[in-house]
Amino acid sequence: MAELSPVKWEEECVSILDQRLLPFKIERIRCETVEQVAYAIKTLAVRGAPALGVTAGYAVALAAKKCEAQSKELFLKKVERYVDLIKSTRPTARNLFWAADRVFQALKTGESVEEMRKKALAEALLIHKEEIEVDRRLSEYGAELIEDGDSILTHCNTGELATAGYGTALGVIKMAWEKGKRITVYATETRPLLQGARLTTLELINAGIPTKLIADSSAGYLMKLKKVNMVIVGADRILKDGTTANKIGTYTLAVLAKEHGLPFYVAAPLSTFDLERDEIPIEQRSQEEVKSFQSCKSAPDEVEAWNPAFDITPPNLITGIITEKGVLHQPYVKSVKKAFERLG
Ligand code: MRU
Repeated sequence: MAELSPVKWEEECVSILDQRLLPFKIERIRCETVEQVAYAIKTLAVRGAPALGVTAGYAVALAAKKCEAQSKELFLKKVERYVDLIKSTRPTARNLFWAADRVFQALKTGESVEEMRKKALAEALLIHKEEIEVDRRLSEYGAELIEDGDSILTHCNTGELATAGYGTALGVIKMAWEKGKRITVYATETRPLLQGARLTTLELINAGIPTKLIADSSAGYLMKLKKVNMVIVGADRILKDGTTANKIGTYTLAVLAKEHGLPFYVAAPLSTFDLERDEIPIEQRSQEEVKSFQSCKSAPDEVEAWNPAFDITPPNLITGIITEKGVLHQPYVKSVKKAFERLG
């Protein structure tokens, strides 16, 4: 089975698996500059909030490695410009900002330029290691919610490719399967970029889990026919009251789940939570992504398209949020606060 690690640190570069080519081609991009990493993020060669966090961490370490300066102050200024570049790539994924800031803060504690470089890389590697551990922990908690014989609907891609670890929503599903629960998974295509069709089905097939791919528009009828009994998705950013941004189409699934009396779970590490903001910036992407797929046009050139990459699901539609500190329930203002207290 091919190695699907989405991002790795290599001697002089950040190595990124080009997810735009999956599942048909496995190719890695050697990013030797921060500009190359930023481009890979913008064009979705690497994607998924936690994997973007790991990538952002490595990008800051790469910036530190490449920047030359006579003084510590000048060095910090140069690196900070790259931190800002990385933070300007995709606005919604909380982990990207969290990791870039965390590595930059760690770097600042170094006495010399050489020490700052070492500290940045050590912190970036630690973020990656933690992601792997945290994914497994939240997957253990989530797997307890799944019964033998369950049929689960999931959206977008939330596995190893999206986290650089074990996965979040897909991690929960994989963990339940590994524990011997016989489950079936329905994966949405996830228009416009087909992360579900291209990536989630690939990961589920590799794990040997019975999988069915559906067009996004089939979800309501699927629920009506009782072919699924729960929904689990990931998150790009979660506010302190549980308000969740995730791949466009998530809100539709949450509303449908409510209408059909199905539990709707969100799985995400605490690094996806944003306790400071009251609103989530939603990334708007190019019209071309809706009007075509790869190089194949699917709409008249003249038509205008609207392409938000994410939507917002309000807390009242969310049954529980699966984290590495356990499954959080309503009222989220209280349970989220408690989870962060347990983090200290
Ligand atoms: O645009 P993408 O592919 O980066 O969107 C990814 C998602 O929406 C995922 O559901 C989310 O980041 C969680 S990944 C564990």
